[in-house]
Amino acid sequence: MLNEHLGYISDPVRLERFRVAIANAIRQGDRVADVGCGSGILGLLCLREGANFVYAIDSSAMIEVARESLVRAGMGNKASFIREQSEQVNLPEAVDVVICDHVGYFGFDYGIVQFIEDARRRFLKPGGTLIPAQIKLQLAAVESDKCRNMAEGWRADGVPAEFHWLCHHRVNSKHAVNLQREELLGVPAELGGIDFRDNNPDFFPGM
Ligand SMILES: C[S@@+](CC[C@H](N)C(=O)[O-])C[C@H]1O[C@@H](n2cnc3c(N)ncnc32)[C@H](O)[C@@H]1O
Repeated sequence: MLNEHLGYISDPVRLERFRVAIANAIRQGDRVADVGCGSGILGLLCLREGANFVYAIDSSAMIEVARESLVRAGMGNKASFIREQSEQVNLPEAVDVVICDHVGYFGFDYGIVQFIEDARRRFLKPGGTLIPAQIKLQLAAVESDKCRNMAEGWRADGVPAEFHWLCHHRVNSKHAVNLQREELLGVPAELGGIDFRDNNPDFFPGM
């Protein structure tokens, strides 16, 4: 579990995007719900930008990592830590900002639509801020050795030939990969967007 969160926290692109969004959104004294807080990093960034209090919510043991990390940051008295499925949580007040990184491999495949909609309806003040407020879904053709090697894993050197037939299963599975710009064969096509400030249809659940 810690390895997964190390991946999130050590991704400079992701962190910088959140840092900028938080700097633009947070006003002095804001109260924040960090939904699916994991290590607590997003709530910590909100506090550092002037938020007054963070409700850190996570259903896993990571809640203890968040607690310890915020205490070490000298912010332990500005947060409460709730280990629970967020859908089961009731907060004692409505908050100014809901922040949530549940974007999965393809935007909506980790349940962010339902997750953030519930938080918006039950946690957020009218006119409050959602981070992220929307996502855009893009599709592009790619030529990449890294992708080919991932997709053809069952045909790799050392895999006995009797198992090569499993390759077509792997080709049709999801793989996360960081691509270089030059590996895209064209300009990505925009498939659509999801605005979390609206009520969204229920055909976006996990793929
Ligand atoms: C993608 S991680 C993001 C962690 C952290 N917010 C970050 O940006 O590094 C999602 C976190 O949400 C938690 N989670 C998943 N489903 C949840 C739920 N229904 N209620 C509360 N937490 C949940 C997981 O345990 C995990 O720590």
